[in-house]
Amino acid sequence: MIYPGEVFAETKEFDTNIRQLLPYYDELLDAIALCVPPESKRILELGCGTGELSLKVLQQCPNAKLVAVDYSPRMIEFVQQKLESHGERNRVKALQLDFGAWANDEIEVGDSFDAVISSLAIHHLSDEMKAKLFQKSARCLNPNGRFWNGDPLLPEFPELSDIYSESRQRWAQKQGLDLDAVRSRIGKSEDYGYSSHDQLATLDSHLQMLQTAGFSKTAVIWKYYNLGVFGGLL
Ligand SMILES: C[S@@+](CC[C@H](N)C(=O)[O-])C[C@H]1O[C@@H](n2cnc3c(N)ncnc32)[C@H](O)[C@@H]1O
Repeated sequence: MIYPGEVFAETKEFDTNIRQLLPYYDELLDAIALCVPPESKRILELGCGTGELSLKVLQQCPNAKLVAVDYSPRMIEFVQQKLESHGERNRVKALQLDFGAWANDEIEVGDSFDAVISSLAIHHLSDEMKAKLFQKSARCLNPNGRFWNGDPLLPEFPELSDIYSESRQRWAQKQGLDLDAVRSRIGKSEDYGYSSHDQLATLDSHLQMLQTAGFSKTAVIWKYYNLGVFGGLL
């Protein structure tokens, strides 16, 4: 059994499989990393998984230290080894914890962060918990801090569902991929901690939740059908 968000049964195959499952995975992560100012000193990453975004943001911010959290022991072990092999282990504190519990003030990971970032993880929380997590993010940031997230989104209206599904099929065909074969590598997960299988929200409701949390400037900086990178500045 794997936790929601681990996606594939085999952690070591995540990096290859996710690039076949999701269009423009690297572009999505690059967009998040680019939004973090290079002079940042302290960054918090929620749901780091195998550390692909972690490595990109460490490269973008050469003087930064990263606190990377994930509730999966398999992911935490994997990311620690990957960071070690990239010579970045001493710049990262990898913590095994549920970011829902953090959002709910049950666990602390520190404050005075310059940025909170996440990719493909927060959509596993309920909307109520997403709102709490955005509020907690605002509270742990420095006054000019920022939050950026890349996640799958709920279609704005039902008629778009088929279009978004078809966009995936066509993208996979262009890559010469059999999407059904890729999807067959997805592992079976059950609810764990604060996370469940996909609990998508629309882009509009994400932006509203961010504004309510205190982010005065919000934006969508990248979008491909139902995948988006959005966030804001305090
Ligand atoms: C699809 S993976 C994405 C990993 C990485 N951010 C990336 O883009 O490749 C989602 C990650 O979020 C983690 N996750 C999901 N819900 C979580 C929670 N409530 N607390 C901590 N980690 C969580 C999963 O264990 C998984 O590693």
